[in-house]
Amino acid sequence: MADECQDDWVPEMVRSQRQWQATIDAITDYIFVTDRARRVIRANKSFSARFQRHPKDVVGLRVDELFGLEIPHTNCLLDRAFESRQSVVDETVVGADTYMISIFPVELGNDGAYVCVMKDITEMKAMRDQLYNTYKLASIGQLVSGVAHEINNPLTGILGFSELLTLRVKDEMVLKEVEKIHRAAERCKVIVESLLCFSRQQKPHRSLEYINDIIDKTIDLRTYWHKSKDLDLVKEYGEIPMIFIDAQQIQHAILNILMNAEQAVLAAGRKGRITISTVYDREAKKIIITIADNGAGIPDHIRGRIFDPFFTTKPVGEGSGLGLSMTYGIITEHGGTISVGSSTEEGTAFIVELPVVKPSESDI
Ligand SMILES: Nc1ncnc2c1ncn2[C@@H]1O[C@H](COP(=O)(O)OP(=O)(O)O)[C@@H](O)[C@H]1O
Ligand SMILES: [Mg+2]
Repeated sequence: MADECQDDWVPEMVRSQRQWQATIDAITDYIFVTDRARRVIRANKSFSARFQRHPKDVVGLRVDELFGLEIPHTNCLLDRAFESRQSVVDETVVGADTYMISIFPVELGNDGAYVCVMKDITEMKAMRDQLYNTYKLASIGQLVSGVAHEINNPLTGILGFSELLTLRVKDEMVLKEVEKIHRAAERCKVIVESLLCFSRQQKPHRSLEYINDIIDKTIDLRTYWHKSKDLDLVKEYGEIPMIFIDAQQIQHAILNILMNAEQAVLAAGRKGRITISTVYDREAKKIIITIADNGAGIPDHIRGRIFDPFFTTKPVGEGSGLGLSMTYGIITEHGGTISVGSSTEEGTAFIVELPVVKPSESDI
């Protein structure tokens, strides 16, 4: 009788254990249980598959070693959970990926154990950052356009009257001072124009153009400088259809990105190389321009600010912080997008995507 009970009981336990394993294996987030020595007690398939192992083979291994983290690992969420003996939920970066980690203490063994659930939110975070950036730039744009318009009117007066005065004034000393006022006002005008461009208040004058020709013309403006700095410029042009754009504005946008790339390779202090490529994405009907450099790269913590007006990491007099914001305004006004494709210490790639739109009847 006792044996019969035992027989029934064992398969039931095994079955229920299997059901539990199947349940946690069905979850695509990483789930594992660890002890205070950070050794895996149990894990689901997703977790072990990340390390190309079977769930049984990760048991006993250290979590931080598996993830290739430094030991001791700073700002470790497990430490926070160990110390508080309470659940901890937070975002953390492991290598190139961002995870939402939830850690819950469980009563297991003498020291207790911790159930960890790791959800990969890398893509979601990138989308969230991009959305935040778009909203931020749209609201800065509104503020900037109001201010720029208000300044524009009195500035036009200062420019006009100071020019008139330079014609009328005879006294040399006074003339010099009036000229200073005029030059300062001209500088302000350039800034106001850049801000109006960023806030998309300058409508494009479009015509049908070949983007490769526009890039060539832009490069021509910099060829002398490239030679003097022994910088290699590589062109990789694809077959691109004509595109309905404001040639001058697009040239300006490309020039801004190119000059940033030049400054970045110069700052990195190695032999500079800038590659400009164009590709036509037939399906999406988009032209993709990539400008890649082997400069010092953009640190993560400033990546979200580089399109903000007046944001610069360059010394006073060298950077105005208006180049990329203006470029952003121009590309957006053309219905396109601009983004940093990648940026490491080995260099940066800016990607500009422009839709190939046909001119409407009202445009012709
Ligand atoms: N290719 C690049 N490589 C590294 N950093 C860059 C690159 N392009 C832009 N940046 C960063 O973005 C900032 C803003 O650029 P921008 O708006 O053109 O202003 P500015 O060039 O006057 O500083 C730069 O100061 C620099 O820190
Ligand atoms: Mg610049």
